[in-house]
Amino acid sequence: MTDISIIVLAAGKGSRMQSNHPKVLHCVAGRSLLGHVLHAARALDPCETVVVTGPDMDAVWVEARNFFPDARRAMQVDRLGTGHAVSMAQEALANFSGMVVVLYGDVPLISAPTLLKLTETAGEGMAVLGFESDDPRGYGRLIQDGQGHVIRIREELDASSAERTIRLCNSGIIAINAGLLWSLLPKLNNTNAKGEYYLTDLVELATAAGTPCRLASCPEEEVAGVNDRIQLSGIEETLQKFHRRRHMLNGVTLVAPATVFFSVDTVIGQDVVVEPHVVFGPGVIVGNGVEIRSFSHIEGATVASGARIGPYARLRPGADIGEDAHIGNFVEVKKSIVGKGAKANHLTYIGDARIGAGTNIGAGTITCNYDGYEKHLTNIGADVFVGSNTSLVAPVTVGDGASIAAGSVVTRDVPPDALAISRVDLDLREGWAKRYREMKAARKAARKNRQS
Ligand code: UD1
Ligand code: MG
Repeated sequence: MTDISIIVLAAGKGSRMQSNHPKVLHCVAGRSLLGHVLHAARALDPCETVVVTGPDMDAVWVEARNFFPDARRAMQVDRLGTGHAVSMAQEALANFSGMVVVLYGDVPLISAPTLLKLTETAGEGMAVLGFESDDPRGYGRLIQDGQGHVIRIREELDASSAERTIRLCNSGIIAINAGLLWSLLPKLNNTNAKGEYYLTDLVELATAAGTPCRLASCPEEEVAGVNDRIQLSGIEETLQKFHRRRHMLNGVTLVAPATVFFSVDTVIGQDVVVEPHVVFGPGVIVGNGVEIRSFSHIEGATVASGARIGPYARLRPGADIGEDAHIGNFVEVKKSIVGKGAKANHLTYIGDARIGAGTNIGAGTITCNYDGYEKHLTNIGADVFVGSNTSLVAPVTVGDGASIAAGSVVTRDVPPDALAISRVDLDLREGWAKRYREMKAARKAARKNRQS
C-alpha cells in the first residue's frame, strides 16, 4: 500500500455554534469532533498528520496530539477557502510523496472502512468521496462523464439550475497523490460566487492534466457535518443509538435505552443491568453481572463483576470498585480503590482512599482528603467497621479488623483490631423534655388569654 498522510481542515471559526471554543473541540459521545475524525483516520496508519487551524486555536492541536503524538500544525490566518487551507499544510509535508487524504474536522462520523475504500479507489491518482442525498441543498454537486469519473465539482452557489437537480454530492473528503496536489494547488483561482480558493476545483484541473478523478461513495449519514448545536445533538443521537444497540447485542440489559448515555469507549461485560437515566462518561470499564441503578453518573472508573452501583451514585476518575462491592445512594468515589465485597451504601465521600475487602463504610462517612492546599491519602484495611458519620482526616491509616464508633473524627492512625472512638460524654437529663414542653404550652395559653 502507498504511504498515506492526512490533512485535517479545522480552521473554521464555527460561528454558528455561538461558542468561545473551537467548533471541532465540542464533544459527542464523550469524544471531541476532531477526536472522532482522528480515531477513524488511525486505520490509514498515516506517516504525517497535519491539522490546519486558525490563530488562537492551540487547544485544537493539543487534542490532535492526544490521537497522533507527532501531529503537526499548520496555521491558516486568513480563511480564504478549502483549497487555500490545504496549501497551508504543504510545508509540513514537504518530504512526503505518497497519498494525501483531506478530512474535515467537523465531519465526525466518517468510518475507517470508508477511508480505506477511498484510498484504494484513488490508486496512484485521485478520488473524491461522494454520497446520494434526497436534499442536496448546500452541497457541491459531482458531475460525471460517461465512464463514471468525476470531471467537475460545482458548488451550489455557482451551479446552474440543471446542475442543482443532481443528487450526487461532494462530502469534501478527498484522496490525492501528493505530487499532483502540490502541482495543481497554485493553479486554483477565486473567481467564483464566494471569492474563495475551492479545493473542489482540483477535480477539473486534474482531469485536464490527464489524471481522471475516481468516485468512492458512502451513506449520507456518515458525512453529516456539524455547523450548529442542533446538528451537534443530531450526531450525538446517531452515536447513542449505535452504542445502545452495540451494548444490548453484547448482553447488556438497558431497561430504558433512550435514557442511557454512553461514551464511544465504554466497555461493559455480560449480564449487566443498567436501569434508566445512567450516564457513562469517557474511560469506563464494567465487568460481568454488574447492576447499575438509576441516576448514576460514571466516568473514568472501573467496576468489577458482581458489583452494585447506585441508585444516585457518582463514580469519578480513578474509582476502582472491586468484585461484589456495593456503592449506594448519594455516594461519591474519586481516585480510590474499594476492595472486594466492601460496602458504602449511603451518603458518603470516598476520595484518594484505599478500602480493604469486606469493609463496611457507614452512612455519612467522609474522607477529608484536602487541607486546602494538598490532597492526602486514607488507607482503610480489610474487614473494618466504620460507624456512621465518621470523618477520616487524611493522611490516616486504619488497620484490618478495626472498628470506628459512629460520629468519630479520626485524626490518628488506628491499629488493627482496635476501637477508635472520639465523643463528648452524653449528658442525660431525666424529665427535661416533658418540663420544657409543659412550660412552653403554659406560656402559649397565657398569651392567648391576654389577647381574648
Ligand atoms: C465544502 C465543499 C462542498 C461540500 C461540502 C461538504 C468546497 C469549496 N466545498 O463546502 O463541495 O459539499 O464542503 O460539507 O470545498 N475550512 C478551513 N479554512 C477555510 C475554509 C474552510 O479550514 O478557509 C474548513 C472548515 O473549517 C471546514 C471545512 O474546511 O471544516 C469545510 O469548509 P466549509 O466552509 O464548511 O465548506 P462548505 O461551504 O460546506
Ligand atoms: Mg460546511
